[in-house]
Amino acid sequence: MTGPVEGGPDRSDLLTRLDIGAGEVKARVREFYSALNSYLAKTALDDYVQFFNWGYQPLPGRPDDWAGTLPAAMIDRDAVRLVLELIGPLAVDGRDILDVGCGRGGTLSTLASRFAPRKLVGVDLNPQSIAHCRGSQSDPRVQFFQGDAEDLAFGDASFDIVTNIESSNAYPAIDRFYREVNRVLRVGGAFAYTDLLRPDQFDHARRFLTANGFALDSDRDITANVLAARRQSADTQLRAFNAADGAQADATHDALMAYFLAPEGSAFFDSVQEGRFEYRILRFRKTSDCSEL
Ligand SMILES: C[S@@+](CC[C@H](N)C(=O)[O-])C[C@H]1O[C@@H](n2cnc3c(N)ncnc32)[C@H](O)[C@@H]1O
Repeated sequence: MTGPVEGGPDRSDLLTRLDIGAGEVKARVREFYSALNSYLAKTALDDYVQFFNWGYQPLPGRPDDWAGTLPAAMIDRDAVRLVLELIGPLAVDGRDILDVGCGRGGTLSTLASRFAPRKLVGVDLNPQSIAHCRGSQSDPRVQFFQGDAEDLAFGDASFDIVTNIESSNAYPAIDRFYREVNRVLRVGGAFAYTDLLRPDQFDHARRFLTANGFALDSDRDITANVLAARRQSADTQLRAFNAADGAQADATHDALMAYFLAPEGSAFFDSVQEGRFEYRILRFRKTSDCSEL
């Protein structure tokens, strides 16, 4: 894959890696997650896979934001841990929560089972993920909608917390998403944000959000914790996800799978380890509406 890609310094890494224009990203992302969902639907994994993220493992000598422990044999243990680290000290009980880029609903089912939120809403670009979420979740507090992070179909000041896990790296117009988060949050509400981005993309997020109605309460580099989770699980996941696709694999598919799972020794794993990307948890608090947004 060669050739220049449109976009300035805020261009997402997905664009660079796939060498596609911003206009194509959403279609590719939708296709990719549709393929994953179709594969899962044909396997016994379908009832169990609730997450599409890289996960988090606690490491000796590195501070965590969640003090509990999870059972060693728990499926999705690292992904659940990532959710709990993201939430950290935030008060969830009685709150209205929006998870943007909710995937197969694991974040909201974790919050529903471990806390007492009032309302949980998940949005994802991929209609199959949303269908899966609806079919697997009967909690009346939880709702799922197909939609775009850059154009949220909710009224102003509708939520107390917006969560966003490993999704924003695929948004071609990230500032539109940040503006939407400001709009749908109530003043005092929290934006709990975690992703794998280039350091300059995190700089941009801090700058843009603190200039536009947010205070930054917490900013933690969890790259080592996430790579520890990749080291332990990526190979197994790659084998499982590739099992049904081998014959039709193409360059785009392979790039997406490597991007998605990053096994140790892959170019993407190495580039994260070398510091070209960071996995961070940022918690912002909305301090004001931004009329100019
Ligand atoms: C790596 S998965 C993470 C899913 C989920 N947050 C989790 O932790 O399991 C990224 C998700 O972001 C979603 N996504 C990508 N672009 C999006 C957009 N513009 N609007 C909404 N969701 C989007 C994808 O469909 C996918 O479900």
